Amino acid sequence: MAVPPAHTGYAFPGLANLHRDIYPNIDASKNQSLSQPGKVVLITGAGRGIGRSIALQYAAASVACIILCARTGSELDALESSIEEISTAVRVIKMQLDVTSEEAVKSCLEKVKAKEGRLDVLINNAGVSDDWVPIPQTKPTEWWKTLEVNLKGPYLFLQAFLPLMTETAKTSGTTADVVNITSIGANVVHPGASAYQISKLAVVRLTEFVQAEYGGEGINAIAVHPGGVLTELANGILALIDTPELCGGFVVWLTKGGRTWLGGRYVSATWDVDKLEQMRYEIVQEDKLKPRMVV
Ligand SMILES: NC(=O)c1ccc[n+]([C@@H]2O[C@H](COP(=O)([O-])OP(=O)(O)OC[C@H]3O[C@@H](n4cnc5c(N)ncnc54)[C@H](OP(=O)(O)O)[C@@H]3O)[C@@H](O)[C@H]2O)c1
Repeated sequence: MAVPPAHTGYAFPGLANLHRDIYPNIDASKNQSLSQPGKVVLITGAGRGIGRSIALQYAAASVACIILCARTGSELDALESSIEEISTAVRVIKMQLDVTSEEAVKSCLEKVKAKEGRLDVLINNAGVSDDWVPIPQTKPTEWWKTLEVNLKGPYLFLQAFLPLMTETAKTSGTTADVVNITSIGANVVHPGASAYQISKLAVVRLTEFVQAEYGGEGINAIAVHPGGVLTELANGILALIDTPELCGGFVVWLTKGGRTWLGGRYVSATWDVDKLEQMRYEIVQEDKLKPRMVV
């Protein structure tokens, strides 16, 4: 495969510093330093694929509670069983909901407030992709649905949960983390992929807005490309060579604490975390990893 151009960020830390699978530094099942006891974590699109893997890594990281959101109840049930196999100490709350429903998201907030009273980590992961065809051949309802699930969904969760998260950050004296799952497609104009890639670019900008508005109130918001993973959504679209566990581990590493220097930025789960730490100064000094117009 030819290396994608620099502006895609594909090889940002150098080709020698890319991963395809989970590795010890980000693997909560092998690395005790990643454990995050006491935290309440909410994951949308948790039932399968990347969201499922993120949930399993948080279970390995010994969090207090994982709230699993998606529409398919059977997948949430199966995931609950898998979490129990890792730890019976983790509380699991299942919420069968559509992320595009304002009412459903509000009711989710009320349940989380009543049952847990806090939210430490919000992972906006639920996503869909419509057929990749030139604009005139797209179906308007499907094109817009992609925007609704991929952009309105994260927006609704942020709109509802940011006040609870800032309260959580205040009382715990640490950050509360927002992880918005985007795509390397945010940095690309691939003919045919207008709805998907526009939605993912907008998610990166939404992440910047969250940071600009709430960074001073203890929120740390980061946009994450999960890698190219063979899932129901991506089937037939991308070069699918990365494991879902890679993103699961990377997200747990991101929210371990102290990654505020990545707030408001785009990162890829394929990037080696040690190398990323080494690049911290240049990232902050040169304000890298944000979409900007070339003039
Ligand atoms: N796979 C890749 O290579 C790749 C690359 C870049 C970015 N991503 C991003 O990674 C995220 C996860 O995708 P995936 O590849 O893991 O896909 P997936 O296996 O198809 O999982 C998508 C998840 O989102 C949920 N979902 C979809 N529409 C929903 C809705 N309206 N309301 C609530 N939940 C909904 C699905 O559950 P229900 O259908 O049961 O609701 C499912 O749990 C997406 O944001 C995707 O854009 C993936």
